Amino acid sequence: MKPAALEPSDKALVPFVSVEHMMQLIHRIGVEEMMAGIALYIEQDFRRWELFDKTPRVASHSAEGVIELMPTSDGEVYGFKYVNGHPKNTSEGLQTVTAFGLLADVGTGYPVLLSEMTMLTALRTAATSAMVAKHLAPAGADTMAMIGNGAQSEFQSLAMKAICGIGNVRLYDTDAEATAKCAVNLAGHGLGVVTCSSPEDAIEGAQILTTCTADKQYATILTDNMVGSGVHINAIGGDCPGKTELAPGILRRSDIFVEYPPQTRIEGEIQQLDPDHEVTEFWQVLTGDAPGRTSDRQITLFDSVGFAIEDFSALRYVRDRLEDTGLYYALDLLADPDDPRDLFGMLMRAKP
Ligand SMILES: NC(=O)c1ccc[n+]([C@@H]2O[C@H](COP(=O)([O-])OP(=O)(O)OC[C@H]3O[C@@H](n4cnc5c(N)ncnc54)[C@H](O)[C@@H]3O)[C@@H](O)[C@H]2O)c1
Repeated sequence: MKPAALEPSDKALVPFVSVEHMMQLIHRIGVEEMMAGIALYIEQDFRRWELFDKTPRVASHSAEGVIELMPTSDGEVYGFKYVNGHPKNTSEGLQTVTAFGLLADVGTGYPVLLSEMTMLTALRTAATSAMVAKHLAPAGADTMAMIGNGAQSEFQSLAMKAICGIGNVRLYDTDAEATAKCAVNLAGHGLGVVTCSSPEDAIEGAQILTTCTADKQYATILTDNMVGSGVHINAIGGDCPGKTELAPGILRRSDIFVEYPPQTRIEGEIQQLDPDHEVTEFWQVLTGDAPGRTSDRQITLFDSVGFAIEDFSALRYVRDRLEDTGLYYALDLLADPDDPRDLFGMLMRAKP
């Protein structure tokens, strides 16, 4: 039995969703259903885009990768995510991307949820991709090329199925083992899966082209001559200064949709273009303030880098679905002295 002075009060406790609990929550809801649910929350928040606090994420770069903080607030709730990106990590048995995040009450500043976000980032990234593709992809799009078959790839494929109704994916990765893993994981999920031996083969007959590779350099996953008219490109992997996936010629032939231009101009594919190159903020397509796809022959490009509001929406979704599940720990996170000014007294009463 702990001494009374060490027992946390209710005010000290913050719900914490561990990786194990997140996985249980995803299974309880269903992975596709949860991505569809998160997509609805993201769409709701994009429709009220203007009232959010927005800033490009705060990035700390090193030779090996990047560590970033992604804050935002809608005036009532504040949220942030901590996330890293280290392409060399997988060779050491570590993930390229890990994350955790928090929601807080703006009125008191008290945290109301702390959560793992490595799993949740994969769900929110895929939900965002599919939500955008639902509005921009050519009508009747049925086949997606999935280039880069790492951690995000199954989520990307299943979100496109659940939200956009695609029936087929064509997989390619420079590492054939990654492609084989992705194909095995997707078996039995209701998608036709074809493994391909080149990117050219993967994009054959696809109306949605997803690039989701990890390399800390200007890479050219798609060259200009590979991309014909009437496709939607979902470019996920170019999300850091000096890290892109598409030949600049493709960008010049595309109508480009972005999350938050001040961040995307630093991190996205458009870092390869003039700083004033015309782009559309995707939220304006949702509110009717900007056109989306206007012709069958157009190339639409979602230059995704991942923006704080998407994480905020995903955390909001988790918070709303958590009650009565028991799928969290009550974490003793906030010191709660009997007299709010007597923090030192609280410490002394806990002396062993
Ligand atoms: N836009 C966003 O919101 C967002 C969110 C999460 C991750 N990302 C980015 O997406 C990328 C993928 O993330 P992940 O977690 O799946 O990484 P991962 O390391 O698990 O997988 C990346 C895969 O890309 C493959 N690859 C590398 N170069 C390639 C090439 N030239 N052609 C084909 N395949 C190639 C690798 O073999 C690997 O299988 C990363 O760059 C990450 O930073 C973006």
